[in-house]
Amino acid sequence: MKKTTVKIALDGPSGSGKSTMAKLLAKDMGFVYIDTGALYRTIGLYCAKKGVAADDLNGIIALLPEINIKMQLIDGGGVVYLNGRKIGDEIRTPEITKYASDVSKIPEVRSFLLELQRMIADENNTIMDGRDIGTVILPDAQVKIFMYADDKTRARRRYNELIAKGYDVKYEDVLSDMMKRDKNDRERQIAPAIPADDAIIHDNSGMSIEENFEALKKIINEKLI
Ligand code: DC
Repeated sequence: MKKTTVKIALDGPSGSGKSTMAKLLAKDMGFVYIDTGALYRTIGLYCAKKGVAADDLNGIIALLPEINIKMQLIDGGGVVYLNGRKIGDEIRTPEITKYASDVSKIPEVRSFLLELQRMIADENNTIMDGRDIGTVILPDAQVKIFMYADDKTRARRRYNELIAKGYDVKYEDVLSDMMKRDKNDRERQIAPAIPADDAIIHDNSGMSIEENFEALKKIINEKLI
């Protein structure tokens, strides 16, 4: 018999605070945290390594049979393995960020990753962050939240993250790349990054991490009663 697990879908554009909040909430609630963007980034990384261009649709689809992606749960978080090799921060570079957005528009890539995501949430109480979790991956999630923050707040967060990791980037470039990528994610034909009809929209512009966390806990607790 299928287990009944609690599924929390946390969707939203880049820099909306999904991953920071999902990690904190998962730890607080003893749930597993899954960053689904890491899966698209991993496919992007493989394509980049193989020298297949981000807009080469057929080239990317042809690579899929060579790709084996697994997630191992370590300390409550999903660690990604690509063909047996553990993946780390190499998927967080600006180049792979762009690749991830491009490969995520391809239906074959999305269906390639679908089961893996569902399987984890069927087996564990999960907080999953992404773009289409509430709409496509876990339409039966008990809690669906679509996170939002204004463009400048989101770009500032992303800029600070990149600078902290040692990348030499300009705020203006981060803002314009982010807006292009968000448009790409929002306007694509398949699984666009838009809220599910039954999602709660949570705008956290101007909120501190603590305020954001408390607001989300309140939403979740009210939903799970
Ligand atoms: O969340 P992120 O920035 O790491 O995601 C990288 C890219 O992957 C992003 O441009 C959109 C895509 N993505 C997606 O299409 N669906 C998801 N569930 C998660 C990410």
